[in-house]
Amino acid sequence: MDLNGKSVLITGAGRRIGAGLAKAIAARGAKIGIHYNRSKKEAASVAKAIEKQGGTVFLTQGDISDVGDCGRIIAETARAFGGLHVLINNAAVFFKTPLLQTTEKDWDQTLDTNLKGAFFCAQAAAKIMQKNGGREDRALPVRVRGVGALGASLPGPHIGSIINIADWAAIRPYTDYLPYCISKAGIVAMTKGLARTLAPKITVNCVAPGPILLPEDFDKREKKILVARTPLKRIGAPEDIINAVLFLLEGTDFMTGSTIVVDGGRLIA
Ligand SMILES: NC(=O)c1ccc[n+]([C@@H]2O[C@H](COP(=O)([O-])OP(=O)(O)OC[C@H]3O[C@@H](n4cnc5c(N)ncnc54)[C@H](OP(=O)(O)O)[C@@H]3O)[C@@H](O)[C@H]2O)c1
Repeated sequence: MDLNGKSVLITGAGRRIGAGLAKAIAARGAKIGIHYNRSKKEAASVAKAIEKQGGTVFLTQGDISDVGDCGRIIAETARAFGGLHVLINNAAVFFKTPLLQTTEKDWDQTLDTNLKGAFFCAQAAAKIMQKNGGREDRALPVRVRGVGALGASLPGPHIGSIINIADWAAIRPYTDYLPYCISKAGIVAMTKGLARTLAPKITVNCVAPGPILLPEDFDKREKKILVARTPLKRIGAPEDIINAVLFLLEGTDFMTGSTIVVDGGRLIA
């Protein structure tokens, strides 16, 4: 997909990885819907930075654990931009829940935000993307630099993309974060199910990060342990996730239902 001029909504884009995604995708010429829940100031400052570079932004607030809010933030963004081409389900919560201390409230907050919210955002987005209607938008990777044209850019039915952000721990769960890991395993399953349901018009893929930006309450000792357990002996950077998302959007239209793990090797350790 050529991102220039497309409308893209990123949930949880006021801070951290979501904010980085918003800036990087805006730099490709896309119109960016910045969704936030509590980080109003931070979201406004991301919007300001994008507008300063000549980009187009729409700010939308909502609690995605509320299905009504999911529908509203998608509808508002599509109305502001006259359609929606890309949804990035990035918003999530992550907090410690040792098994014997996990409450129903912990479970509901985690599953309702990370999984139910992503599902109903995807549902609302799919309805609108399907109305984008028949625009032939397939930019095949035929213009690989240094290789030249390998074939004609074939017209295709691709009109939208949904990218879900999971976690490598969806595949090998952390012991003290079971509701979180279960929610992210659900995201991987949801990616496959939505991809089958929405093909061929809408592609649905997933990025599963490893340690990138550590929780703000992690101390030096915890960070050291994490680095030691990671085969590449460092934590990643937001750019590692941003580049994987950009590849799914720009690099190929021939992937759907896939999960790219960007984890410094944690899964093989
Ligand atoms: N950081 C990492 O190293 C790492 C590792 C593995 C996976 N991931 C995944 O990558 C994604 C981004 O990570 P991150 O660390 O940048 O995320 P984060 O800072 O933990 O959260 C991103 C945003 O989610 C939003 N959010 C939380 N609950 C919400 C709710 N009920 N309704 C609406 N929005 C809500 C928050 O928005 P407000 O601030 O506006 O309230 C928050 O800024 C997440 O899906 C995360 O699980 C991250």
